[in-house]
Amino acid sequence: MKLIVAFASLATVALASSAQAAGAGNAAAGKDIFSRTCQNCHSTEIGVNKVGPTLWNIVGRKVASIPDYNYSPAMKAETGTWTAQMLDSYLADPRGDKHGVKMFFKGLPGAQDRANVIAYLNTLK
Ligand code: HEC
Repeated sequence: MKLIVAFASLATVALASSAQAAGAGNAAAGKDIFSRTCQNCHSTEIGVNKVGPTLWNIVGRKVASIPDYNYSPAMKAETGTWTAQMLDSYLADPRGDKHGVKMFFKGLPGAQDRANVIAYLNTLK
């Protein structure tokens, strides 16, 4: 019971701080989410591809622009540049979004989680 109460107050703190950061995203929290949910498939180093392409410098990078990575035809057909907004809709539903066919990942349903991850991705420069 004590544990539940402790957890509940922790959750309240987390909610309060995410409300403060809403929209901006918290890079430290995003790094945490990244290591739990993205890192298996993505490195953050230049030139290191895993199952997915490296995400170094992804914010502002042209879509499907890593030359030695074999993108899906749908991703290759994209001509834009990754903005925070595009990343947000991709990560919300990678398989449903027009880009996503090869990324076998269910996505991040929480808007604040996505904002945090995108804030972290923005530090990879
Ligand atoms: C199960 C493996 C897997 C997981 C987990 C995963 N990805 Fe991916 N990701 C891929 C693959 C594969 C592609 C290439 C998609 C394609 O070509 O259609 C990709 C592509 C991408 C791209 C486009 C890259 C480019 O060069 O245009 C971004 C951005 C991205 N992932 C972000 C993320 C983020 C952020 C997470 C975690 C929240 C994540 N991915 C989780 C496998 C994964």
